Amino acid sequence: MVKARIIATGSYVPEKVLTNHDLEKMVDTSDEWITERSGIKERRIAAKGQTASDLACEASKAALKQAGLKGGDIDMIIVATVSGDMPFPSTACLLQKRLDAKKAAGFDVNAACSGFLYALSVGESFIKSGAHKRVLVVGTEVLSKFVDWEDRTTCVLFGDGAGAVVLEAATGDSGILSTHLHSDGNLWELLNIPGGGSKNPPSKDTVKEGLHCIKMKGNETFKVAVRTLEALATETLKHNKLKPAQLTAFIPHQANLRIIKATAERLSLPMDKVVVNLDRYGNTSAASIPIALDEAVRTGRIRTGDYVLLEAFGGGLTWASALIRW
Ligand code: COA
Repeated sequence: MVKARIIATGSYVPEKVLTNHDLEKMVDTSDEWITERSGIKERRIAAKGQTASDLACEASKAALKQAGLKGGDIDMIIVATVSGDMPFPSTACLLQKRLDAKKAAGFDVNAACSGFLYALSVGESFIKSGAHKRVLVVGTEVLSKFVDWEDRTTCVLFGDGAGAVVLEAATGDSGILSTHLHSDGNLWELLNIPGGGSKNPPSKDTVKEGLHCIKMKGNETFKVAVRTLEALATETLKHNKLKPAQLTAFIPHQANLRIIKATAERLSLPMDKVVVNLDRYGNTSAASIPIALDEAVRTGRIRTGDYVLLEAFGGGLTWASALIRW
């Protein structure tokens, strides 16, 4: 049976580093509070004019280079983002132009922080159906441009970056074994950007009221996240008849170290199996999993034959997972 296999990964983060100490000078916060409550020490911030497609392009080029492929070899580009260059065209189309991926169809997926896993699942389906041979899946975000830099409850959490993978049809043991997607629109108010769409079209008032910035009920989101992520991991492992101990690596969405630790603890997974980089990048939304995956691959933490669990949670609310045999 045909599987979709990740044959290459790539990632990119902007040069500018914003530390917790820098934030102490901007809002009423402290390195101690941010570290204790979230685990984040610093994050990357896109330069003025640097867009989601700029970051996506660098990450994609790295992945294509690792795969030994050119843009022209790709059949489809799926970009997960909630901070795309513009409402339309899709960031995927802008990326297609930059990669000279002439034969590719391209579109964006909006599932907030779960976006990359949603996009991965869509790419997997196109490959399994036989419709496409090679799909580029990207998560890219410049949420720093949608953060209220005077709101200490959100501005300390987010960062910018991009990650990409190349999926290819494969028939061996390696590949994506299953993906699991969920959402609950009843909880949309926990996490959103209320302005700029047809509900609150851009106007002087929406700008004045800060409606174009991220709003989050952090504490409530936290509780739902811990509950949901354990259940999702259990569902995913059970589907594949695996036990947590059989995992080589667990790559969770990098939102909050306390959420990650609570999930690992509930699964009885030791933290040395959990890939964590939020101390350096903060929450990069749809980019967080592909960046962490790329780092894990490039540092040799994941090897052929390993079982790897990816899991994310975000606005929508949405949550999603993927179980991969590397
Ligand atoms: N610096 C200092 N104090 C801060 C602060 C900051 N940056 N942000 C909030 N506080 C204060 C609050 O005002 C509150 O003060 P009060 O008790 O006097 O009202 C206190 O710290 C506790 O706030 P609370 O929101 O209850 O903290 P928390 O322990 O829930 O941690 C988050 C806050 C945001 C770190 C945490 O809730 C979280 O990570 N939530 C989930 C986020 C998430 O996963 N989001 C995205 C999914 S993609």
